[in-house]
Amino acid sequence: PQDAPGAQPGVAAATAPPPTLGPGGLAFPEGFAWGASTSAYQVEGAAAEDGRGPSVWDTFSHQSGRVRGGDNGDVAADHYHRVYEDLDLMKSIGLKSYRFSISWSRVLPEGRGALNAKGLDFYHRLVDGLLARGITPVATLFHWDTPQALQDKGGWEQRDCAQWFADYALQMFYSLGDKVGTWLTLNEPKTVVQLGYTSGIHAPGKRDKRVANVAGHHLLLAHGMAVKAFRASGKRGRIGAALNLSPVYPADSSAGAAKQAGLVDDDENQRYLEPVLRGRYPAAWLAAQPAGAPVRAAIRDGDAATIGEPSDLLAVQYYNPIYVTASGGRAVKHPTTQATWLEVYPDGLFDVLTRIRRDYGDIPITVTENGMPSTSDEQDDDRIAFLRDHLAAAHKAIAAGVRLEGYHVWSLLDNFEWAEGYSQRWGIIRVDPKTRDRRRKASAEWYRDVIARNGIQP
Ligand code: NOJ
Repeated sequence: PQDAPGAQPGVAAATAPPPTLGPGGLAFPEGFAWGASTSAYQVEGAAAEDGRGPSVWDTFSHQSGRVRGGDNGDVAADHYHRVYEDLDLMKSIGLKSYRFSISWSRVLPEGRGALNAKGLDFYHRLVDGLLARGITPVATLFHWDTPQALQDKGGWEQRDCAQWFADYALQMFYSLGDKVGTWLTLNEPKTVVQLGYTSGIHAPGKRDKRVANVAGHHLLLAHGMAVKAFRASGKRGRIGAALNLSPVYPADSSAGAAKQAGLVDDDENQRYLEPVLRGRYPAAWLAAQPAGAPVRAAIRDGDAATIGEPSDLLAVQYYNPIYVTASGGRAVKHPTTQATWLEVYPDGLFDVLTRIRRDYGDIPITVTENGMPSTSDEQDDDRIAFLRDHLAAAHKAIAAGVRLEGYHVWSLLDNFEWAEGYSQRWGIIRVDPKTRDRRRKASAEWYRDVIARNGIQP
């Protein structure tokens, strides 16, 4: 397919003057990076096309009982084939930034070795199309789709996997580094640890907390090694990790709840933030790992410093708060969504952002995911309210001095929501489950106005 920006029917040129903010409107800083996010396995499809190798998610989703409804990402949102249509949709909303991920096994079918030129071409088409439309590409290197060939060699349980990742990252820096200015190493290592290796709800479906912590260490090591590789590549641009952070609150005023909340905070947040931003594991978290725990042997001298190789930015993904009881259990204090784990608490975003500033200073932050599933395919007012309230919290954080440079809605498109398959629809653009035809939902129209006004009208 040929890219012909502007030639597509149905994408009208802007004629009306841009809308402005009314009284009480909250203006965002000039140049704020309004964006949307996706990830490769969730939207691309074309799972066996142009030489793509399988990833752990191909394997996992094809095993019976793993994904709701037996769904898989073979076709997903068919973004691989509809990339120009999607680029035009992004443009029609006015996006300034688009955050996507590279499928490791599409560009390196075996995870290592020679590049698959056809697979890489797709990312050239995508990135060129973004740049042609004035949209800044933000590329994530790992959004959970470990090449199956590397999983067969032990995957993230193996220390070597960090090196394999850094080698792949370097190949991407050399291939796309003149066009992509912002790189994210890992997406949500915590989710891989918790769902991929502890509960087994996600690929590769392991259920062993001890192994999970080893995999988690190797993931963080991979992040640090990729940052080093980026510096060594000499490419210009910025790099950092994308961490999902949940503010942890005691469920009541008891001393027990406060103590338990501290432990949960270490496991949910600090064990990722501290190594990445300060080059050390939290002492209390390490002390909580029993003497014979494999993670103790996995963490070698110098690793924490490697993980702490200075990043240029922190990508924050915020969805939900966590309330912890005195017995270490969880409490729910706010309404939830179709995703039952998503308890809606916009001020949690303010707390997360201001805490990063308090603990780590002035590091530039971009929100790379925030959003909710809605059962409404057209008039998704629940999503509009959700996004508006979270943007108000982000605005408050900026006013409090947080260096927040951008915000990306999860997600641009309805897509493959992992173990939930296509049953949860997170897009501001509807994707018909059968025809894959796209249509902007009310939230996309609303977001277009937000971007045009550079602010929200709470
Ligand atoms: C976080 C993940 O990065 C993304 O892949 C997922 O779809 C959303 N959360 C919603 O669960």
